[in-house]
Amino acid sequence: MIAPSILSADFARLGEEAEAVSNADWLHIDVMDAHFVPNLTLGLPVVKSLHRATDLPLDCHLMIDDPDRWAPGYAEAGAANVTFHVEAAADPVRTARAVRAAGALAGLSLKPGTPIEPYLEILREFDTLLVMTVEPGFGGQEFMAEVLPKVRLARSHVTAGHLRLFVEVDGGISLDTIEAAAEAGADVFVAGSAVYGADDPAKAVAELRDRARSAMAG
Ligand code: DX5
Ligand code: ZN
Repeated sequence: MIAPSILSADFARLGEEAEAVSNADWLHIDVMDAHFVPNLTLGLPVVKSLHRATDLPLDCHLMIDDPDRWAPGYAEAGAANVTFHVEAAADPVRTARAVRAAGALAGLSLKPGTPIEPYLEILREFDTLLVMTVEPGFGGQEFMAEVLPKVRLARSHVTAGHLRLFVEVDGGISLDTIEAAAEAGADVFVAGSAVYGADDPAKAVAELRDRARSAMAG
């Protein structure tokens, strides 16, 4: 699945920017609070409006402190998937259960320096694992191939039947890097600048999907 990140879109025209990628699978929404990351973007009111403006499933990526308090509200606002950071959560299992009870998939995200091994057990409570392939905070950064072993390990647990998860990568995904991520076992690909920086965002989505598919098949 391809999930364009509206972080790289025109925030004054979000409805049209969603429309421009109507061939995408999820619409990725980066919520930043200027505390967990040094950037500030948008929050619940904008997610509620986007939910009314588009049929695309909303993939909310919460880069915020205290997700235990805020994450279920994004599910109630209509998000299809609500991902929060393990580094910020006090009780990730309880929060995942609250997100699911509110009707969304629950996602756990790991910053590049955060190992996956301590969380393999609690990932049973989640639907999505978001492996950051840049430091969270900004679009347009360079892909960090060194985190791909986490994608490989997660994929091996899914293949073995120990976990049932989407394995999502976020940061620096482009036509040049998506193959490496797909080969490592990712099946959801977030792309901000590679989609909204293109002349034709829908075409960029289709090209990324083709490239990932051929890497998975090969
Ligand atoms: C970064 C965000 C990403 C960002 C990706 O903190 O989580 O979703 O939008 O942007 P690109 O694809 O430009 O790296
Ligand atoms: Zn993101």
